[in-house]
Amino acid sequence: MDKLKIEGGARLNGEVTISGAKNAALPILCAGLLTPEPFVISNVPELQDVSTTLKLLRGMGASAEREGHTVAIDASGVNNTEAPYELVKTMRASVLVLGPLVARFGEARVSLPGGCAIGSRPVDQHIKGLQLMGAEISIEHGYIHARARRLKGARIVTDMVTVTGTENLMMAAVLADGETLIENAAREPEVTDLAHVLIGMGARIEGVGTDRLHIQGVERLHGTRHRVMADRIEAGTFLCAVLAAGGDVTLRSVEPSTMDATLEKLREAGARLDCGEDWIRVRFDRSGPAGALQRPRSVNIRTAPYPGFATDMQAQFMAVNAIAQGTGMVTETIFENRFMHVQELQRLGADIAIEGNTSVIRGVPGLSGADVMATDLRASACLVIAALVAEGTTVIDRIYHLDRGYEKMESKLAALGANIRRVS
Ligand code: EPU
Repeated sequence: MDKLKIEGGARLNGEVTISGAKNAALPILCAGLLTPEPFVISNVPELQDVSTTLKLLRGMGASAEREGHTVAIDASGVNNTEAPYELVKTMRASVLVLGPLVARFGEARVSLPGGCAIGSRPVDQHIKGLQLMGAEISIEHGYIHARARRLKGARIVTDMVTVTGTENLMMAAVLADGETLIENAAREPEVTDLAHVLIGMGARIEGVGTDRLHIQGVERLHGTRHRVMADRIEAGTFLCAVLAAGGDVTLRSVEPSTMDATLEKLREAGARLDCGEDWIRVRFDRSGPAGALQRPRSVNIRTAPYPGFATDMQAQFMAVNAIAQGTGMVTETIFENRFMHVQELQRLGADIAIEGNTSVIRGVPGLSGADVMATDLRASACLVIAALVAEGTTVIDRIYHLDRGYEKMESKLAALGANIRRVS
């Protein structure tokens, strides 16, 4: 199993190109199931989760060809509407085939995703919405079995803001008979990116980017081409790394307009930021006057649905707070168990106490390298950031979590001057 070995203390300098967004690419690739016509998506990141999605689509009889960062899907030959447990258990986002399959083929058997490290993550809202659209749903042998001759438009109010739930229901509604209204819809930029793909296929959607999506179903959708939006979480992760380690880095191929909450917290913590339409320059000098060590300022964070502070950036800011000046409070409101990085940060010398869904982080002047274990995707990113500033060597185990969602993170960081390498 691969590990990452990091020697802390190097400043980060230079330029880094940000990849396409994982959480936009996954639903968009599933949308390829909605049409028998060619569907070509560019800026698709090379990630484990993308490979799993392509495997899932191929298992259904679709062809999915990848050339570099471009994926061409042809779902004209789909002959199997099942998402098997073997794939769903490795990637919960597999549930995103449910809406498109029922909408186009009238049937789907999708394994229920099991437990997850960061929370229980049920899919009841996806099921409830499809039922309101007239699907008959049963849970049999661990599978969601959904059937409908043709889905009907419906008014759906979700109990909570759900990103993949909104995406699944939007993909179901575009081919339904009549009008669907999704209220309390997620407004995440990745949902908007998917909506643009669907509109490019001929779907009629109004209210894109708001929490009320009006969808007028159409009989069929055609093929399209689309470029996946930039990964705002990967971008935020690099910005946090520079704030923690110090340096001067320009991010290319980013969309700062989707990152307001993150950029505001970075500024509050002391980062110097300059932004253009598709670039961000971040500067933080760790050596203050007379050689004194300069540290970021602690920030308080409360995760919330977009445009609030993203839960997917919480762990990375925890690493920054760990070495910051002052005490910061981080409250996680989206997932019930997303503090597993705390114990690993403590192994590096961080001073963090957890009280319910809040972590109280007393910043320390320095961390010391140790062997640690990644527990989920963003926790891995948090440990990489902490390791970049820790004194000595940190070895991060179980980095397959990192490979699910960050494209070539270690080579991108190494190109900026980090002392990081992958070891087997
Ligand atoms: N929820 C329910 N019932 C549902 C759906 C959601 O109770 O039917 C709850 C969840 O348990 C959670 C909350 O609602 O407490 C929000 O969950 P949401 O459905 O929005 O999460 P998701 O769609 O499963 C996506 C991202 C996550 C990201 C969350 C929140 C993808 C593929 N995944 O998950 O990304 O954290 O939205 O923004 O888009 C990551 O990239 O590291 C990651 C975990």
